Amino acid sequence: MEKADKSQCFSKYLFLLLPLLFCFSEPNAASSSRLQSLGPWSGFSTLHRLRKKRKGQRLKDPVDALLLKTLTAQREMEERFLQMEERRLQRDLEAEERRIQLEQRRFELERDHDFRMFNVFAQMLSILRQGNQGSSVTGVAPNVDLNQAFSNATEIGERMSEEAKALHLGQTRSDRIASVHGSCYRADFQSSPYLSVRGNSASIVWTSSEEGYEVYHADKYDEDKNPSGIINLGTSENKLCFDLMSKKLTQSSMNLIEPSLLQYPDWKGHLFVREEVARFLTYYSKAAAPLKAENVILLNGCGSLFSALAMVLCDPDEAFLIATPFYGGISRNVSLCGNVKLVYAYLDSQVTGSCTRPFQLTVDKLKKALQDAQSEGVKVRGLILLNPQNPLGDIYSLSELQDYLEFAKRHELHVIVDEIYMLSVFDDSATFHSVLEMDRLPDPQRTHVIWGVSKDFAASGIRFGTLYTLNQDVIKGVASFGYLHGICGPMQYKIAQLLRDRDWINQVYLRANHERLKAAHTFVTDELKTLGVPFLNRSAGFFIWIDFRKYLRKGTFEEEMILWRRFLEKKVLLSPGNSFECNEPGWFRIIFADKIHRLRLGMQRICEVLEEQEHEILNEDKDQLCQSESEATVDSTDEVIFVSHHQEPTSSGSSTLGDLIGLLQQQMRSSDWLQKNTVGQFAQEKPEVYDVFSKLVGKQ
Ligand SMILES: *[C@@H]1O[C@H](CO)[C@@H](O)[C@H](O)[C@H]1NC(C)=O
Ligand SMILES: *[C@@H]1O[C@H](CO)[C@@H](O)[C@H](O)[C@H]1NC(C)=O
Ligand SMILES: *[C@@H]1O[C@H](CO)[C@@H](O)[C@H](O)[C@H]1NC(C)=O
Repeated sequence: MEKADKSQCFSKYLFLLLPLLFCFSEPNAASSSRLQSLGPWSGFSTLHRLRKKRKGQRLKDPVDALLLKTLTAQREMEERFLQMEERRLQRDLEAEERRIQLEQRRFELERDHDFRMFNVFAQMLSILRQGNQGSSVTGVAPNVDLNQAFSNATEIGERMSEEAKALHLGQTRSDRIASVHGSCYRADFQSSPYLSVRGNSASIVWTSSEEGYEVYHADKYDEDKNPSGIINLGTSENKLCFDLMSKKLTQSSMNLIEPSLLQYPDWKGHLFVREEVARFLTYYSKAAAPLKAENVILLNGCGSLFSALAMVLCDPDEAFLIATPFYGGISRNVSLCGNVKLVYAYLDSQVTGSCTRPFQLTVDKLKKALQDAQSEGVKVRGLILLNPQNPLGDIYSLSELQDYLEFAKRHELHVIVDEIYMLSVFDDSATFHSVLEMDRLPDPQRTHVIWGVSKDFAASGIRFGTLYTLNQDVIKGVASFGYLHGICGPMQYKIAQLLRDRDWINQVYLRANHERLKAAHTFVTDELKTLGVPFLNRSAGFFIWIDFRKYLRKGTFEEEMILWRRFLEKKVLLSPGNSFECNEPGWFRIIFADKIHRLRLGMQRICEVLEEQEHEILNEDKDQLCQSESEATVDSTDEVIFVSHHQEPTSSGSSTLGDLIGLLQQQMRSSDWLQKNTVGQFAQEKPEVYDVFSKLVGKQ
């Protein structure tokens, strides 16, 4: 690769850094008072002048020198990336328009980078300030007011952060998927002048999930037509019952078209369908008393229900509480429409205290998360429970449910209970309990139950979701969304016919479905056992939560992504724990509800990756032992470093200068990643990896 023009390579951070360093090395504090007049961006030209003036100055401190080197190198890489892009675009015949885009892109990249780097500076200054008393870290002259310099730096940092926020639109804190994985598509995302702020944030979501999803579809595995295609063990669908469902849904009795079905319906759903749903739920959730049609509302899928509930229960920036790991699509559902945040109660694999299983949800954990959110001024309006839980496969006992609901009642929280896998419990040893089974709900007006046909009837292509709630205000609020997200009449009729055929459901469908799920589950768990890989052995849902931690070189989400990419390169798609907001790197969700021949091939591919990975880790360990004393330099040949939200130091108080330098190094590598993996090379060489990655991040 050609060397970039040297003069271009000097980062503006140098301009910024130099005067800040001079604060320490010059008795005269003039430079810091100059700092205060800096606007968030215009400042750089001032600094540029400063830099010119002080060009001759030497940096004595090794830390300073290191920082400079690091920053310069990072800048060089980013410049190279941009220049590559520029050259590419120059060749382009419709160059003019694209050049404008590039400009915009460069601007965005730079701002993004500015923002990150400035945060690091602010923290560094704080550390230097702490170390100031009597320490000789930077040979600071005694009469420099570092406190002030720091607070002003912070101020600039804050202003920059505002701008960055304005630029990154949808990057709200709740939008964790966007921010955690931000670095991967931010660079690729250009905000559109045609769209509103909201429109742009919706477009980010689309770019990061839907498009990738389409690319996956373009290289789908097919035993005849595309045997080297991608096997999807990432999307939670039941692919075991197409035969039964297609036979059922094409029966002539299903295909009635009568005038009322072609007319506008009741926006809550046709009454006869809601009656059928009420009977169905009464029976399968073993409701204490018959459920009523007036409490049922139908929308086109549980996603629409989540988003409608978010809209009617929360105001913008209010939050729902949810335990992680959880199915990440919910973030989309609630943040896309309602701009509602999610507050996380982190569960982990350690079995401690009164817990009897890994990732066990307890009221204490909920309470702590709620208190933390409240102390940050976040208003929490509800609790989301998934039962059976996705991705863990846990089923809550009645007494656990009772505890969660009582907790919610004490804090006046709504509870949305998502029971979408209620009939996908495939082992007789496990019993599912719906909250509708309770004689008396602790807080009936704040308890809302969701179900749909996607999972239990192996029909995620049919958008049919149901909400059951006694709260008529909620019904009215959600009903207004029926106008936008209603289900078409003929489909409502079909599903009503399906749900009423209790004999077929019990004698034919569920029996076969559970047998097949169980066989597939046994196949995959036996393979895992043979491999010696730990996993949660549960009996509900379509997924197994697997512990691949021993295949990571380090316990980081970067390593998790590396492993995930290796799976994808071997053409098998899994979901990394990070996309469920799991806070322990190394967990993956695998979908087993698929035909044995695909599972077999998928497991083979997984096995190959794991063996390679194991082998490499062993060899590296050996190498490391040999050259034990060699210095810990940045390995710039590391192929991918995926910058994760979780890795960044959150407060200067807990970080050390070492951490910060580590962070800089990481940033450096991340810009390398950027260079390799965005439009330039990555998209050309491995577009499927890049795009499918995005898909995985959010889409179930
Ligand atoms: C920092 O800013 C404050 C007010 O914004 C100003 O009074 C002070 O002189 C500045 N300090 C330095 C060191 O620039
Ligand atoms: C929203 O959530 C539902 C239910 O959990 C899920 O089926 C759907 O795919 C989600 N939608 C999106 C856009 O993520
Ligand atoms: C998983 O649990 C089921 C029933 O609970 C049991 O039959 C099966 O042997 C278990 N599988 C493994 C691999 O331990």
